[in-house]
This record gives sequence, C-alpha cells and structure tokens, in this order.
Amino acid sequence: MAKTRGLARRRSTLPPQLWRPIALGALAGFALSACGSTEDPNSVQGGAPPASTNPTNSNSDIPQTSEEQVKQLLEARKIDYGEALRTASLKLRDELPTLAEIKTIESAADEASKKVAYEKLVDTMLSSPQFTATMVKFWKDTFRTAQVGDPAPGTPSKDTAANFAAQVVVESRPYSDLFTATENTCPTFNATTNAFTPATCARGPAPVATAGVLTDPGLQSQYFANMAFRRARFVQETFACAKFPAEYSTTPKPLGNGTFTGNFAFESITGKQNTPTAKVDFQDTSSVICANCHVNLNRLAPLFLNFDEKGLSNATSQVDVPIPGNPKAARIDFLPASEGFAWRAGKPVTDLTTLGAILAADSDVQRCAVNRVWNYAMSRGDIVNDLASVPIAVTESYVKDFVAKGQNLKETMRGVFKSEDFVKF
Ligand code: HEC
Repeated sequence: MAKTRGLARRRSTLPPQLWRPIALGALAGFALSACGSTEDPNSVQGGAPPASTNPTNSNSDIPQTSEEQVKQLLEARKIDYGEALRTASLKLRDELPTLAEIKTIESAADEASKKVAYEKLVDTMLSSPQFTATMVKFWKDTFRTAQVGDPAPGTPSKDTAANFAAQVVVESRPYSDLFTATENTCPTFNATTNAFTPATCARGPAPVATAGVLTDPGLQSQYFANMAFRRARFVQETFACAKFPAEYSTTPKPLGNGTFTGNFAFESITGKQNTPTAKVDFQDTSSVICANCHVNLNRLAPLFLNFDEKGLSNATSQVDVPIPGNPKAARIDFLPASEGFAWRAGKPVTDLTTLGAILAADSDVQRCAVNRVWNYAMSRGDIVNDLASVPIAVTESYVKDFVAKGQNLKETMRGVFKSEDFVKF
C-alpha cells in the first residue's frame, strides 16, 4: 500500500532481520533453499535439500549477527504509543489518526494509561468501516488480483475472492472458511458503504461443489496456465507461504545430475521411465530433478484441469500441455493411473472439497495466515516473493492463539497490533 510504504523505512533503523527479539535464538542462518526461488521454476535446480524441512519457517533471510549486537539493538528500542497509533491507523484504516486520537495518547498521564488509550483505539479501528476496505485491499495484494474497471464481457470479476476473504476476517468467521465455505463465496463489495453483498459464484457447464476461494472463478481465471500448474502454485504459495518443492524427504537420494528430495516415490509421477509415451518427462534428471517439485505439483494440479480461461468448471480438461499441437492435459500426463491426488505425502485428496478440508486443518496453512498478518503489521515484504520468512518462534504464540480462537484472524490482528513488538521502535 502506497501510504504505508514509508513506514518500512522507519522501522528499518534496525536491520529488518532484527525486528523481532525472538530472532535471537535463531541466528544460525540456514543455507538459502536452492529451490523455487525464481519466477521460472524450470530454471531452478532441484539441488540439495535445505537445512529446514519447511521453507516457510526457515531463517534463510537472516544473516549471521552476533547475539550481543542483536540484544543491544533490541534493547535500544523504546515504546512509543503515538508512533504505534500512526502506523496502526495507516494499516488498519488506510488513513492517519485524527488529532483527537493523537491527543488522547499524548495527554494520557503515564505509560500505563497511554497503553490503555492506544489499545482502545486499536479496538476502535478494527471495528471501523475503513477496516473493511483495508482488508479487501490486503487480500487483493495477497491474491495478486485486482479488477480494474468492470470485467470484460464473459470474464469473471477478479475481486470476489478478495472480497470473500475480507468478509471472513471482518466478520470474525473462521479463516478455514476460505477453503471450506460452500455458499456465497463471491460477494460484492461496495466501497462507498463498506458493505458486502453475499453472492454465489458464476457456475460453469459442469460445476463442482463450492470450496471457499478454491473454486473462485476470478482466481481460476487469473491463474489459468498450461497443465493448471500455476493454480497449484497459487494455492501452495498463498496458503502455505512457501514455494515448491512443497516438502522434502528425510532420506534424499542422489539421482542423475542431482538429488531427489521428494517425499513420494520418484516413480509415482508420469515420465519416460514408466510411460514411454509421456508428453512431458517429469522423470527427467539430466539437468534438474523435475520430480522434486512435480511429485507434489502433479498431485495437485489435476484438481484444476477442468476450469477454463474464464474460471468456470467444465466436464473436460481445459488446459494445454505445452508441446507441439497443444493437446489438452489429461490425468495420465501427471500421474500413472494407480496414483491418487494429494496435498502432501500422507494427505490424500479426491477433489477441491477434500483439499479444502485438508487446508483448513493444516498447521502450515494456519501459521502462514498468522505470518502474513505479522509481516503486514511489521511492514515486512511478501513472505514468499520477498523471502520475508518468519522464524517459527516469533509467531508461535499467535498461531496457538489463532487456532484456540477458532482461526479468527481479526483477533490475531488485534493481538499483533497490541503486541510489544508492534509498539516498540
Ligand atoms: C523448483 C520446482 C520445479 C522444478 C524443479 C520443476 N518444475 Fe515444472 N513447474 C514448477 C512450477 C511451480 C510450475 C508452475 C509455474 C507457473 O505457471 O507459475 C511449473 C510448470 C511446469 C510446466 C508448465 C509450463 C508452462 O508452459 O506453463 C511444465 C511443462 C513443467 N513445469 C515441467 C517441468 C519439467 C519437465 C521439469 C524438469 C526438467 C520441471 N518442470 C522442473 C515447479 C518446478
């Protein structure tokens, strides 16, 4: 958000990696994951497995700094409720605090009453109409969707998924509704009244059961691409906060010109070794180990095959295999017939509804939601694209609280914006 960008500079009097005191215990500095960190995944080496089994939580962006230095920097920070109010107001309402609000804090007799005044204002902001608009914007940024003007004829609005996610947060519904809601997942948002109007998503010729935003036509259309891989990537990066490879075996094996790190059998996806007629050889090991990413990708992408460019579900595959003639991608292009779909090893799915249920219960997905809120509050970048990963310990207590409170992300925001980390500068 343009208005809040300057805030990042203010916070960066501390090196960004040191914003959180908790980083203290986590300064070992892991090797940067070799995988999936460029826009072109095919240019990326499968490479050696990273030190962390979950890139979401790796500390790869934290350079080596002496513990003493960190401690000094962190201890030098001072609580400033006036500054906190300014930042919170921009982030929660997209506007500066009023003079009256500023005075409330200034005129408070002591630190304790300033705290009370500040926290009350956070509550006020979270229930303000502007908070709703800010959440719509937050989700458009997160989903990388924004409808400029009206949708072109015959194309879906790109806004509905962000509207729905914002509505879930604003109305304190469980975050898991993003994956499991079965109706009214395409609300409209009136920016003048700051109100949502519930609406059903457009349905294609062969509609599937609604599964939160997973079946949103705007998202399906936005991430339409060959073999539906981009849709699978969207789900992985947006909701698990990490690039592919999605998971790593604890027993990596040297293979071809690299190391196979996948958590499914190498033979379990389509390639020349098990399917001589394979259109794409996912068992290629000559340059990169395709299977490192594709053992997971190939179990997820086929769930999205039948959504067309307009994001509507059809009876047959609507996405191409990028080879001469551009044949439509079929299940066999991803997996041998004996293999099923899955989110992760040990987490089989059959359709988007079962995928939604798995995402709703996945602890990485829960952590990802909390970490996105944390990064937003602390003016850090996008958790995936800017490698603004968050060490587990930093947000651990918020994640626990988030789960305990029925995945209420608004309550997580309340906690983060009132936290000592937020009010210290
Ligand atoms: C680091 C993870 C990773 C590795 C390794 C990898 N891929 Fe992919 N692949 C992806 C992701 C992610 C996408 C989706 C990219 C997008 O559309 O945003 C993708 C997309 C594709 C596509 C569709 C491209 C298109 O035209 O849209 C094909 C085909 C493909 N991969 C084949 C391969 C093959 C063959 C290999 C090995 C030589 C390989 N991939 C290695 C992650 C990977």
